[in-house]
Amino acid sequence: MTSTHAFWLAGRQATGEDSFDVTNPWDGRLVGTVSVPTDAQIEEAVAAAHAVREEFAATPAHVRAAALDHVVRRLVERTEEIAQLISAENGKPIKWARGEVGRAVSVFRFAAEEARRFNGGDAQRLDTDAGGTGRLGLTRRFPRGAVLGIAPFNFPLNLSAHKVAPAIAVGAPIILKPAPATPISSLILGELLAETDLPAGSWSVLTVPNDRMPALVQDERLPVISFTGSGPVGYSIMESVPRKHCTLELGGNGAAVVLGDYASEKDLDWAATRIATFSNYQGGQSCISVQRVIADASVYDRLVPKIVAAVEAQVTGDPSDATTDVGPLVNEDAAKRVESWVDEAVQAGAQLLTGGKRDGATYAPTVLAELPDNVTLSCEEVFGPVLSVQKVDGEAEAFAAVNSSKYGLQAGVFTHDLQTAFRAHRALEVGGVIIGDVPSYRADQMPYGGAKQSGVGREGVRYAMDDYTYERVLVLTGLAL
Ligand code: SIN
Repeated sequence: MTSTHAFWLAGRQATGEDSFDVTNPWDGRLVGTVSVPTDAQIEEAVAAAHAVREEFAATPAHVRAAALDHVVRRLVERTEEIAQLISAENGKPIKWARGEVGRAVSVFRFAAEEARRFNGGDAQRLDTDAGGTGRLGLTRRFPRGAVLGIAPFNFPLNLSAHKVAPAIAVGAPIILKPAPATPISSLILGELLAETDLPAGSWSVLTVPNDRMPALVQDERLPVISFTGSGPVGYSIMESVPRKHCTLELGGNGAAVVLGDYASEKDLDWAATRIATFSNYQGGQSCISVQRVIADASVYDRLVPKIVAAVEAQVTGDPSDATTDVGPLVNEDAAKRVESWVDEAVQAGAQLLTGGKRDGATYAPTVLAELPDNVTLSCEEVFGPVLSVQKVDGEAEAFAAVNSSKYGLQAGVFTHDLQTAFRAHRALEVGGVIIGDVPSYRADQMPYGGAKQSGVGREGVRYAMDDYTYERVLVLTGLAL
């Protein structure tokens, strides 16, 4: 595909004066040229979103739900075409791209269901003391106003869906800003929304370059910001608009804990396979990919060779090939950064068990042991196909190792013990604890978000709907309660 793509301004297609190219990270091929809105066009979209906010909030639930259902149907019909596009612009292996479209279908389906049942409130009797006799409080949730959704490159369709679908479900106008590396998947979402009866102005997809975002972020007509991306950018946004409602989905360095009771051959094979797969899916470019394996000393020596074998079995290559597990990173600079972090770790004494090689934008699936505490890989999110293994003595030491990170997005704990599962839930400083699997497990209806420096607020359709709205109480007086 090499056409020029218009952006979506208040529900209609528009082009600006500038454009930029989107290339395939695997072979450098041109995927498409994307038009960039002018300042006047951005202003038009924001003004339209602001102007329509009351009308959109009052739109009947069945209208919003029907629009969301329409997107579900069209995503299903266009799955293969959209998956090919995600794979081309992101470099994600086609099997993962197909999975991403399937997840976006679920997000819009959940949003349609939630739109139909979202009351967001309750009734409360207020006659609990004499002054409240005959009074009833009715609480409902109302949109805070228009949302600015800023999406990342790693799930260009599904993480855009997580911003757009809940906004439509509650009747909040949304301006979606896709990642510069992967805008075309979000623009396709615009094509599907344009086929609905949603009011003009209730949605826009604006391909604004990052350096022109500060003005949009500051705009008071967009009181809600939902951002997914890196910590430094996320926190700089939040600090620049302290009076806005910000949701930040930031990084992580996901840990998979394998405890001593998870010890049969079958257990360790499962753990090793899951760890290898989810350290490397999408080249490790997921905030919940496995970066750290923390294994009890009683299983460590049997587990590590299985992990290395499973990592070496990952097929690296052309993302358009259905057998490929690991494609390129989003660009060569990203692969060079990963390479420099691994080199730094090895020079500081880490043991390279497999991988450690770069070929253009592709970095080989890599396993390290004996990682020193003070190297970048120990402290930061690698966002590449690299994991480290660490030996610990027992559950308490394992949980302390998980919590030693500044991040806290999700953690996986391989155990069969229910009491251990509950202790993990209490002890681990993360937004989600996954028992019997890797931290990378995410169902799109789950609350998803971080503790510590992994972010603020929650996504997951219903949770984002709460985030985009606020409670307003109606007090009724003189009632026969
Ligand atoms: C992320 O990278 O934060 C999203 C992970 C996912 O949706 O699976």
